[in-house]
Amino acid sequence: MKKLIDQISDIVGEAFEKASYDKEYARVTLSNRPDLCEFQCNGAMALAKKYHKAPIEIAEEVGNILKKESSCFSMVSAVKPGFLNLNLSEAFLKGYLDSMAKEDSFGMEKPGELKKIIVDYGGPNVAKPLHVGHLRAAIIGESIKRIAKYMGHEVIGDIHLGDWGLQMGLIIAELKRREPGLEYFDESYTGDYPAKAPFTISELEEIYPTASQKSKEDEVFKEEALRATYELQNGRRGYRALWDHIMRISKEDLKKNYNNLDVHFEWWKGESDVQKYIPDMVEKMKEDGFAYESEGALVVDVKEEKDTKEVPPCMILKSDKAALYTTTDLATLLERKKLFDPDQVIYVVDKRQEMHFIQVFRCAVKTGIMDKDTRLSFLGFGTMNGKDGKPFKTREGGVMRLETLISDINNEMFKKIKENHEVDEESARETAKTVGLAALKYGDLSNQATKDYIFDIDKFTSFEGNTGPYILYTIVRIKSILSRYCKENSIDEEKLAGTVSGHGCNKADNEAEKKLMLELSKYSFVMENSFNELAPHRLCAYIYDVADAFNHFYHENKILTEEDKDKQTGWIALLLLSRRLLETCIDLLGFSAPERM
Ligand code: ARG
Repeated sequence: MKKLIDQISDIVGEAFEKASYDKEYARVTLSNRPDLCEFQCNGAMALAKKYHKAPIEIAEEVGNILKKESSCFSMVSAVKPGFLNLNLSEAFLKGYLDSMAKEDSFGMEKPGELKKIIVDYGGPNVAKPLHVGHLRAAIIGESIKRIAKYMGHEVIGDIHLGDWGLQMGLIIAELKRREPGLEYFDESYTGDYPAKAPFTISELEEIYPTASQKSKEDEVFKEEALRATYELQNGRRGYRALWDHIMRISKEDLKKNYNNLDVHFEWWKGESDVQKYIPDMVEKMKEDGFAYESEGALVVDVKEEKDTKEVPPCMILKSDKAALYTTTDLATLLERKKLFDPDQVIYVVDKRQEMHFIQVFRCAVKTGIMDKDTRLSFLGFGTMNGKDGKPFKTREGGVMRLETLISDINNEMFKKIKENHEVDEESARETAKTVGLAALKYGDLSNQATKDYIFDIDKFTSFEGNTGPYILYTIVRIKSILSRYCKENSIDEEKLAGTVSGHGCNKADNEAEKKLMLELSKYSFVMENSFNELAPHRLCAYIYDVADAFNHFYHENKILTEEDKDKQTGWIALLLLSRRLLETCIDLLGFSAPERM
């Protein structure tokens, strides 16, 4: 079903044609003066030059035709210098919403060309605890992935673990110092290694930071760690067995953490998976004449004439022949092409890595790893700051662990829910988890991804203002009205939608009702924009407007005590549509609503 704005543009276009003007100029847009009208068309201004006529004359001609021949508008007004101001007719709006209610995805049309998309949005480093830096990637990436799937595309989310770097060598070296007698360190050992790891996840979490600190103070230890990394990467058996243990235990822990965030990856691949492609890939780059030696290192030039800032050559191998972060990302693209052949790859990564991705993208296309027409998109996000405007830290000044952050927010939510009404401890805890996640995710997603934002627990958990809890509160309010309505009229709630679908919404008879209906009608338009611009914040802004319009409508109209049963049924249909639409949107943002709060 065509988007509302396109439907009205078509109608206005016909009027342009009838008046013998080019209908290409008939685009209707949302009004930028909502106090005067709902929609506007500025086509007459552009046409004036072409037809050597005053724009107001053209606007009046077209306006007169619309007034006579179209039932789509309740108001058509030509105003100087040549605008057409338009209000939608209540009947047309009702018809549109009733169709929305009947269709899957509210009548949103699937894009003509369905694409295969990979979203790279994890990037946690194995054995290092998850911290708030990984939060934004997870929250934004999950939402982008859900929106892309909803549009109909075939989408894979890849966690892309950092599982091949120095941190592995650090852990192995530290373990060797602590327990040198373990079979993993005995090079003459040829038996099987134990199935059980020589450490638990909490030990692992202590080992890494200790080792990392030690490597900064102790040159000898650092050498040991580098050596262990090198030996691991070159296949030393015992180290590989330790690495397997680290991977297994860390992945389990990561899964638990990501599950708590309702973030789920289709692929659990990592940097280690693509090391096998590197030798051939590098060889080919050399053979094809793209890679050359510069000061001992192997590089590919990626600068372009149009560059306004310097883009240094993309380094493929260091002078000691070691592969780098770039090399791994290039090999990852190679594997993605081989396994999935995507039309688009979207990277959701800290914006400070932008240059890295410019180099990788250019190098991948230049060297033929990716086709020119594969879209490589970098969605760089800003930093999550504390109230002091500096990157978020614990009270003690350390890096905040994700688990701590989540439990802080849940505790705050729990307090507020308890204050709000009488509930038993257990269900308040359950609700706090659901609402807490919404507070956290909405607090993040409602900001444009590229911008830094301030993590403000009081603001995020507030039931008022532009917050996750406010959105959920609205949904819960709708649910409770619907269930009271069903109770009072002895209707089975499951069957409610069927009961009112024949009736549909009302032709709005008050401003608040019409405003809500107009907001709902923008759905497909907003959804397409959110996807095309990779901008979940647009979806947030939209549901905030819808929630606001709903609450206003709720305060202006006494839904449950309305005597006019026909009108009441129309309102129930409107509530059902509002609820379904809001629930769909929050699911795409990655959270859900509780039954009560
Ligand atoms: N592990 C990296 C980090 O912590 C992020 C990885 C992002 N994704 C990628 N394909 N490079 O900085």
